Amino acid sequence: MTKKIAVLAGDGIGPEIVDEAIKVLQALAKDGLDIALEYGLIGGAAYDETGTPLPDETVEISKSADAILLGAVGGYKWESLDISVRPEKGLLGIRSQLNLFANLRPAILYPQLADASTLKPEVVAGLDLMIVRELTGGIYFGQPRGIRTLENGEKEGFNTLVYRESEIQRIGKVAFDIAQKRQGRLCSVDKANVLESTELWRETMTDLAENYSDVELSHMYVDNAAMQLVRAPKQFDVMVTTNMFGDILSDCASMLTGSIGMLPSASLDESGKGMYEPIHGSAPDIAGQNVANPLATILSASMMLRYTLDEPAMADRIEAAVSKVLDQGLRTADIYSEGMTKVGTSEMGDAVVAAL
Ligand code: IPM
Ligand code: MG
Repeated sequence: MTKKIAVLAGDGIGPEIVDEAIKVLQALAKDGLDIALEYGLIGGAAYDETGTPLPDETVEISKSADAILLGAVGGYKWESLDISVRPEKGLLGIRSQLNLFANLRPAILYPQLADASTLKPEVVAGLDLMIVRELTGGIYFGQPRGIRTLENGEKEGFNTLVYRESEIQRIGKVAFDIAQKRQGRLCSVDKANVLESTELWRETMTDLAENYSDVELSHMYVDNAAMQLVRAPKQFDVMVTTNMFGDILSDCASMLTGSIGMLPSASLDESGKGMYEPIHGSAPDIAGQNVANPLATILSASMMLRYTLDEPAMADRIEAAVSKVLDQGLRTADIYSEGMTKVGTSEMGDAVVAAL
């Protein structure tokens, strides 16, 4: 049966990198991948056209699709807009409206890129880490929130960090299940020494561990986790954490692999339906110049094949093709080092297609 994929390219480099991932999917279509693409607007591009960063039509297209491929949102152009219509609201809105609570952010170091990391090769060689980030709760969505004026006339900004037991349990289960299929080690990251909401997080993870005798659960405070990620990242197998801590730690983990331009992600709902996107942003400074690295988006398409479309062999082919182009010495600017061949966005996409 034909699988419907909603394509939301977004802003900045979004359209360029999404085009390359689609090239790869279309190449696989020649080998039997049965997909139909439907395009929708999101972020600043949607705001410019419709006055909102998340038009109803985009939500409809995404809800009725089997999977969603997203580029990136945001840019200087929209930074002065009211926060309620900023491009980022489009992304947060679709995560929330589609209940995409489980964000999987793998950080894998391709051996060919060991030199591209700012850390010593021996610290990062062989790195294969999975960050599981809660994506529809916590301080990103907690109420009340806003900016208010106090009686003395001073302004005060406020947000609420709130987690229900059920929210912690469902992300915890996803993380334990993943750890079971990997090395069986799960590190839950919190700030339980200061924040009650994450004290509950820690208790709930500890309770869940009783059902997973084959997974070794540990706990770590987020400040220490940030330090451990750059000190000795290979101690981690799977990490599970809150929305905001996961946002920060996944950027940190990405640099271990040389470039944020390499890292894909999946955001899944309870049934495994998902939205797939690179973890990097819209990079407006390099948009439209054919220099962005499309590999994170191409690898996001591979995650889509693996996690939602049930085509693991095709996912393997994409991952092998990416490894092959790196072996060939092809590098976009962000992962370039001396002696390699510098290529642009579309050349990199073409090379992956050729290597499939
Ligand atoms: C991410 C991004 C988003 C987030 C922004 C663009 C809203 O940084 O996906 O990590 O904070 O979740
Ligand atoms: Mg982020």
